[in-house]
Amino acid sequence: LRIAVLFGGRSAEHDVSVLSATNIMRALEPAKYDAVPVFVTREGQWLLSSFEDGTLAKPSTGTEVCLVPGGQGRVLAIPTNGTPHELPAIDILFPALHGLHGEDGSVQGLAEVARVPLAGCGILGSAAALDKDIAKRLLNEAGLPTARSVTIHHGAAPAFAELESVLGLPLFIKPARQGSSVGVSKVSAEKDYEAALTEGFGHDRKLLAEEFIRGREIECSVLEDTQGGLFVSRPGEIMPAQSHGFYSYDAKYIDEHGAALKVPAELPQEIEGKIRAMAAKAFRAVGCDGMARVDFFVTPDMRVLINELNTIPGFTDISMYSKAMAASGVSYSEIIDRLVAHGLA
Ligand code: DAL
Ligand code: MG
Repeated sequence: LRIAVLFGGRSAEHDVSVLSATNIMRALEPAKYDAVPVFVTREGQWLLSSFEDGTLAKPSTGTEVCLVPGGQGRVLAIPTNGTPHELPAIDILFPALHGLHGEDGSVQGLAEVARVPLAGCGILGSAAALDKDIAKRLLNEAGLPTARSVTIHHGAAPAFAELESVLGLPLFIKPARQGSSVGVSKVSAEKDYEAALTEGFGHDRKLLAEEFIRGREIECSVLEDTQGGLFVSRPGEIMPAQSHGFYSYDAKYIDEHGAALKVPAELPQEIEGKIRAMAAKAFRAVGCDGMARVDFFVTPDMRVLINELNTIPGFTDISMYSKAMAASGVSYSEIIDRLVAHGLA
């Protein structure tokens, strides 16, 4: 089975994607899969990559590849110095891209146009989950609680006093469509508001101001089977080091002591059950299929809120998706097999 793994990409999570894809490539058993890694540059070019000694090549020039519209997996290769030619067709596309232009429905739409099977979530669920403003509205409409927030459009930021009265302090300013906490600021006083807006608008035209939830960060992995049934993992807990204040990009990927994972999370049985049921409900409410990681806050008085859904969750060494699945008896390679089976069904 020929599987094209897309990685890198135009988003701020480019480097995280490289880490995720490296692990995915390692987990693709050569006896089952003929994996074709494709590096997406920061500019969005697709270049043929290779995987040697456990490392993915990130070429800056070389052979460009593209999927033929309606081609059912036909791939055209365009070498820098050479004649365009066709490569063996791929059977399935596996985007290991995070954030905009990869996890947001765009590549999923491309797969649809090319008529090639896709591993993971489709167009609608991807687009809805990536936009925290839209996702919250769908979750709330389904009766699933989230942190209170105010949506801020570019050029129309409310006065700080207004946010403070609705959300309290501290509050978070975050881009509506970003992952890995990129562009997120914690604001404790009016003097930090302007800089937080500038930082956020550097990443998106739409931001969320969100109340600070004093709670534990709990995450659940959801994987759909070929019959449409949902497997929901046991929840895991993220424990950011006190020094980082919140689970920031640095705490996640830069500082190796930035956070610890506890899988499964220590929770009363009935709360665990509630969280797993909410994960499945959230997955459906946001229109997901295939795969998602559902992230929660659990407050000291055991209120459970949904933070967000990630339809292409991190697969890095420190990522929760595969660890939570492992704690529930599903190995890394089994995740891949199930995702592929789901995509081909
Ligand atoms: N957005 C990152 C990759 C995650 O949620 O794991
Ligand atoms: Mg995220």
